[in-house]
Amino acid sequence: MRSTFPILSLLIGAASAFRPSSLPSLRPASLSRLRTPAQNRRPSSNMLLRMQTPTLIEQQTKDDKAEVAEYFNTVGFDRWNKIYSESTEVNKVQLDIREGHQQTVDRVLQWLDQDRAGKPLTESVCDAGCGVGSLSLPLLERGASVYATDISAAMVEEAEARAKSLLVNGGHRRGRFETKDLESLGGSYDTVMCIDVMIHYPTEKMEEMVMKLASLADRRLIISFAPDTWYYSLLKKVGEFFPGPSKTTRAYLHEEGRVKAALAKAGFTVRRDHMTATNFYFSRLFEAVRQ
Ligand SMILES: C[S@@+](CC[C@H](N)C(=O)[O-])C[C@H]1O[C@@H](n2cnc3c(N)ncnc32)[C@H](O)[C@@H]1O
Repeated sequence: MRSTFPILSLLIGAASAFRPSSLPSLRPASLSRLRTPAQNRRPSSNMLLRMQTPTLIEQQTKDDKAEVAEYFNTVGFDRWNKIYSESTEVNKVQLDIREGHQQTVDRVLQWLDQDRAGKPLTESVCDAGCGVGSLSLPLLERGASVYATDISAAMVEEAEARAKSLLVNGGHRRGRFETKDLESLGGSYDTVMCIDVMIHYPTEKMEEMVMKLASLADRRLIISFAPDTWYYSLLKKVGEFFPGPSKTTRAYLHEEGRVKAALAKAGFTVRRDHMTATNFYFSRLFEAVRQ
């Protein structure tokens, strides 16, 4: 059965983040708030059987993507735009997620800064699922050419607007912003980044997603995902006992070994890794390079 807590990109317990007034301070309760009433229906064993068929998996992925795009163009945009900013209109959970996400972004930048050793960043980067540009902007600032794309037009527009207003010396001109499903991306880039997006991909589609991203990367792939460990799985199950009405997207955890295997199949090997874990944000980060 696919999981259905809240949204985030790795935030697993953010449900509460979205409905501050209705949420107890316990993490399991917060997890539950991310489910819509429809998502709370338990599938029958018959349904579970049918869910195994490729056709259904494809349909499920289409539904997921349509849901994700709609969410990040509407209520999700408002929420995440605040989380990924300095807005004071966030509750404690959202603040925790903001801090966790910033740690992930900072770690990616730290790796790049170590490598460039004070020189400008001259590489081309594709930031797939760029959101509001939390990573694209500092990359542009450092000199990279960035192709920033997202399935949500609202997120991409915000990313471009931030680049124009925040980057000095025409840094935004090295950026190209486009609304695009990552599965339809083309071209080749020194580095492809995809941060906190895999949570929207079902297990069955994860390998395909990694292969697609790898096909665009000449040299390096930097990806993150919510790890499927006994602890986070338990947390998620506990959350499912507390259904709530908050409008969210489904969220999927991924086994680290399977992500590594998908990378190996695509010809990449993990060179650096990191785990960010705050109270409500969990993200495993890999930098993988061509073998
Ligand atoms: C939690 S946000 C992370 C944004 C950004 N990567 C960051 O770390 O700041 C997840 C983003 O993935 C985008 N997304 C989800 N599925 C996508 C897909 N198939 N193609 C492109 N973007 C996608 C969403 O619209 C959303 O902006």
